[in-house]
Amino acid sequence: MAKGPLATDELAKKFEVEKITPYMRFVKDEGLDIISAHYVPNLKTVELKPWARRGGAGVFINHEASQVTNDCYVCEIPAGKSLNPQRQMFEEMVLVLSGRGSTTVWAKDGRRTTFEWKAGAIFAIPLNCQHQHFNGSGQEPARFVSVTNCPSVLNMYNDLDFLFGLDFDFKGRFGGEPDFFSAKGEQKGFLLTTNFVPDAVNLPLIAAKERGAGGGHIRFNMAGGSIASHISQFPIATYKKAHAHDPGAHVILLNGEGYSLMWAEGEEPKRYDWEPGTLIVPPTNVFHQHFNTGPTPARYLAFKHPGIRNEQGVPLAWLSRRLGGNQIDYADETAEVRRLFAEALAKHGLTPKMDEFYEAELATLPPKRVPV
Ligand SMILES: [Fe+2]
Repeated sequence: MAKGPLATDELAKKFEVEKITPYMRFVKDEGLDIISAHYVPNLKTVELKPWARRGGAGVFINHEASQVTNDCYVCEIPAGKSLNPQRQMFEEMVLVLSGRGSTTVWAKDGRRTTFEWKAGAIFAIPLNCQHQHFNGSGQEPARFVSVTNCPSVLNMYNDLDFLFGLDFDFKGRFGGEPDFFSAKGEQKGFLLTTNFVPDAVNLPLIAAKERGAGGGHIRFNMAGGSIASHISQFPIATYKKAHAHDPGAHVILLNGEGYSLMWAEGEEPKRYDWEPGTLIVPPTNVFHQHFNTGPTPARYLAFKHPGIRNEQGVPLAWLSRRLGGNQIDYADETAEVRRLFAEALAKHGLTPKMDEFYEAELATLPPKRVPV
């Protein structure tokens, strides 16, 4: 993957002093390894190091969004142990990768609730609440991956006492309700407002033909936060439309097998194979496209920073490039994309089931108004 446009050494030198942010200094001082790749083959097996602040082990996953918007880390709670309590002035969304356990959340006025989780659960930490994670097994570690908006908060306030020591309850976000982390929710359009999804792999989805190939989709708002998140699923022997967007989308494979292509405008696509636990973080404005080559539907979870929308509130990544959006219609993709997919499926004795979706797209395909 190209690193994007490069300046002359002379120009780069003039910006050198602005390159390192307060967030980047903080992460470096935490003493963990920092993975800066846009592709991590499997979060379930990535190597971790002891993390003094949290009490478990962890690794940071940073990329260009980590300079400005959101970051990612993987953390493991040893068998029979818990992490240290923490409150934080940034939002966090969590996917449990393996194991089982519980989390206790409390406000400074004593309001408190505890809920249990296992692999596949998704939840958010209510802003600035004290929280503590416990491993529920005495034999196996429990591992989770989190995406937070720590970079934007720390870069703005640049004060760790504020970040981890602010004595303030956001009463509108967490009221100490005993059932705060029950699986109840309210669905409006694609958006499910909830605080806990116990099993992301089997959560029912909503049809979303706009993203191609008969897919299912659901979006989340959790704990009153601003981190965008969604799950997408697509059927056997199909693939989604390519699109590009702002930085910071953390795509984590929940189920199935296949691959993603990623390419910057004018470059050849590069292939990244996936399995449950793979992480892909498409770089800024880099096109990416997801392909299911396995014998089951493929499903992924994305934790994101909110992206650019049109005046109707529709993300540009959902709109055709023919309309000025950032999604490539099937009709405009290269023959190489289809050839690679057919080749990958053939290895599993499968053939593409895309003809009906190519055909269906033609009924609503906008005329070409801008170059695509
Ligand atoms: Fe995307």
